[in-house]
Amino acid sequence: MTTPNPQLDAQGNLKHFLTIEGLSREFLSEILDKAEGFLAVAQQAVKKVPLCRGKVVANLFFENSTRTRTTFELAAKRLSADVLNLNISTSATAKGETLLDTLRNLEAMHVDMFVVRHASSGTAHFMAAHADPHVCIVNAGDGRHAHPTQAMLDMFTIRRHKPDFTRLRVAIVGDILHSRVARSQILALKTLGVPDVRVIAPRTLLPTRVEEAFGVTAHHDLREGVRDADVVIMLRIQRERMNSALLPSEHEYFQLFGLTEARLSTAQPEAIVMHPGPINRGVEMDSQVADGPRSVILEQVSNGIAVRMAVMSMCLGNQNLNSQGQGELFHG
Ligand code: CP
Repeated sequence: MTTPNPQLDAQGNLKHFLTIEGLSREFLSEILDKAEGFLAVAQQAVKKVPLCRGKVVANLFFENSTRTRTTFELAAKRLSADVLNLNISTSATAKGETLLDTLRNLEAMHVDMFVVRHASSGTAHFMAAHADPHVCIVNAGDGRHAHPTQAMLDMFTIRRHKPDFTRLRVAIVGDILHSRVARSQILALKTLGVPDVRVIAPRTLLPTRVEEAFGVTAHHDLREGVRDADVVIMLRIQRERMNSALLPSEHEYFQLFGLTEARLSTAQPEAIVMHPGPINRGVEMDSQVADGPRSVILEQVSNGIAVRMAVMSMCLGNQNLNSQGQGELFHG
């Protein structure tokens, strides 16, 4: 017997967005297609559509964020939702209030969607399991586990440059061990049909049995790993998640795994370079590459708004479907 996917309702519609796991290629493509339609909103004089008017979205970020929090906020505002940004350091969490009590109190204020980032893996799933039936939970990054909207904005950015996933060679370089982004990216790439996904890292920064567990090939030499790659994704070294010294020094890491123009020369001439941010310049990559012609790093940030609009409007649209027995989201 298969376990039901906790992010889908009984009709198979998106209710929460917690992980890429268990979502089909068609489902991921639908998110990408919807996001395509939302790109134009940024070009309008009034950057808003009324799709989620009257809905309330609460951003709960228990870990630091620049890109994810602000693009979720902008996405919600562009959908005409009202947005609450809870400042965790000045909230009652700092006085010992539990996550569930925070959830219950904000539900009492009729919040429709929680966007949650937390250092503990599984937090978004936990909230989804305990939220009121009409409430949507979106995972904005939980521990090492998942960062599904980051993966989808990365897939969106790749597709705009390289439309056929089934012909791509994608190299993911860096701290795979601690990276929720890498886990979600690998799942999304494999689901969308990418035949060649490689991870490149020192042995200490790769999960055990990574090739069998993730269906990727592992490399420990950067030039070899990026050879003929169409897409090179660099990851941040996550010092905050390292319990012990897994790296000799950042300087030494850069000497072996930092992306420079010279090391990128084995990739395809039209290869794109990505990074989810924040970048540690001179650790993961050289500024010449980060700011160079093959970098699409800032495009990733812009695309994040459209992709998050797609995910939020799908979840909140299905919320209407479930609570009112009709699919009418588009009023106004
Ligand atoms: N990519 C990403 O999650 O960035 P932030 O930590 O700034 O949100």
